[in-house]
Amino acid sequence: MAHFPIVLLILGFVVDLVYLKFRHPGLRAAGLLLLIGGLIGAIAAVLTGVVVKQNAELVLPSLTDFTIHAALGFALLVIVGALAIARVWILVASKSPIILPQVIVGVVAIGLILAVGFYGGRLVYDRGIGVAEGGIYYEIAQEVVELERIRAVTPNAVERGAEAYRRLGCSACHGEQAEGGRGGDLKARKVQEEFYETHGSRNFPPEIVTQEIVDDIGAWLERVRPSSGQDDED
Ligand code: HEC
Repeated sequence: MAHFPIVLLILGFVVDLVYLKFRHPGLRAAGLLLLIGGLIGAIAAVLTGVVVKQNAELVLPSLTDFTIHAALGFALLVIVGALAIARVWILVASKSPIILPQVIVGVVAIGLILAVGFYGGRLVYDRGIGVAEGGIYYEIAQEVVELERIRAVTPNAVERGAEAYRRLGCSACHGEQAEGGRGGDLKARKVQEEFYETHGSRNFPPEIVTQEIVDDIGAWLERVRPSSGQDDED
């Protein structure tokens, strides 16, 4: 969905440049049509983005990338809209095209497109936002939503930690009772400090798995007795 206006706008810009070389009126019309198509696509993408944002607010406490992405997206929309209106007007009023400003605006717009795409890509691929599935952190983000809900009704940090440990799949590598496996033995460990060092840049980025959650898991792990192998949730 979001790729469609990007392709049209970039293609339109390329066609405009070719027009500057060959001056064929058909190219000028094609460039304008691509611009208008790109504008319509961009409007649709922004509307989609607004809806996705409402869902994403549930998923993520930190939305910096989203804010940047949205601000750049709106700026792009304004520039492309103004450019399209100016060009339609020039065409209708049969004025000769004003080349240099148009090329400059075009270059700015391409820069914005790349920036919007970059931040949009970070949202989708790093955070799993806006995709039903497939974002690498999507499932974790979903569990975090659930954990936030549980947090609101569970005053006991140890209980919350046990739940977080289970839901985030720590047990798959560190064992049901933190006895270790593919990852180390975490029984009776205080993990608050080392967790992000090991996992922050890969499996569990701090933007998604917040410090509060790690603190809860740490509170639970500290209570897991090395000897009995039983967890102690009381
Ligand atoms: C895909 C397997 C995997 C999952 C899932 C996983 N870990 Fe790990 N974890 C590891 C491995 C492997 C290491 C050791 C890395 C190393 O030593 O370089 C590790 C290291 C750690 C460390 C550093 C301390 C130590 O003993 O090395 C902590 C703390 C930790 N994990 C906590 C967790 C918690 C909490 C979760 C769940 C939110 C989790 N891990 C999920 C594999 C995993």
